[in-house]
Amino acid sequence: MIFLRYYCVRYVCRDHTQNNMKTWNEKSSTEEIRRRFDADVERFSNLETGQQSTVDAPLHLQLIVDAIACLHPQGGHVLDIGCGAGNYTLKLLEKMVPASCTLVDLSAPMLERAAERVGKVFLGAVKTVHGDIREVLLPEGRYDTIMAAAVLHHLRGDNDWDAVFGKLFRLLKPGGSLWISDLICQEQKAVQDMMFNGHYGNYLAALKDSSYKEAVFAYIDKEDSPRSLNFQLRLLEKVGFSSVEILHKHLCFASFGGIK
Ligand SMILES: C[S@@+](CC[C@H](N)C(=O)[O-])C[C@H]1O[C@@H](n2cnc3c(N)ncnc32)[C@H](O)[C@@H]1O
Repeated sequence: MIFLRYYCVRYVCRDHTQNNMKTWNEKSSTEEIRRRFDADVERFSNLETGQQSTVDAPLHLQLIVDAIACLHPQGGHVLDIGCGAGNYTLKLLEKMVPASCTLVDLSAPMLERAAERVGKVFLGAVKTVHGDIREVLLPEGRYDTIMAAAVLHHLRGDNDWDAVFGKLFRLLKPGGSLWISDLICQEQKAVQDMMFNGHYGNYLAALKDSSYKEAVFAYIDKEDSPRSLNFQLRLLEKVGFSSVEILHKHLCFASFGGIK
């Protein structure tokens, strides 16, 4: 019985990128992810170098802040989860003056850097919350805008995804919006192989060389468990968002959101 249960859990918990067949247990733990980002603050303090492996990183960033600015020109209360060194909040501050900025990150050094950078350009209230988005306590019905850039692909099983999307929905005010920019996968294995190993692999090799491509692939294999755009759009609707928007999709990266 115990053996059967163990086997089923291992079978179900496969990486949806289908680039590999790692189980969740073989992926980086939350602690390992935290340690890796603790040591990578400098790189993530610059969008150009921090997100080099992200196709169209500056465009995703621009589209997200433009969508927020046109939906919420008054600013309001902004929450940036997995804020890293604060790139998304900083870009948003170029377009608007929010009532407050709340920054959440697993990594204390990242969070400190984000608070320092945001505090230099924003004179209003900057609140920092150190911890895992699955666990941190935040006020429900408070935020006009939530940004989640390059962070949700660290979630693992369906329960994680359901719980976090539901939580983010509850944190928003009615009319508020959630914006996600992230690594995604395709739903069909053959299409995923074509997109990821083929096109994305070529993109990475052309950016630098094949050893860079292998390093990025190894890192994704170990650390990330992205879901498809379709899965996430369906989940946004399932947890209650009344409208969803796709801003951009190019190879394995997409920007999209939901309006409460
Ligand atoms: C790839 S960086 C992206 C940073 C920033 N959003 C950007 O786009 O520049 C991902 C960040 O998410 C944080 N992170 C990863 N898993 C997290 C979790 N479960 N809860 C909160 N933060 C998390 C990491 O510590 C890291 O700073």
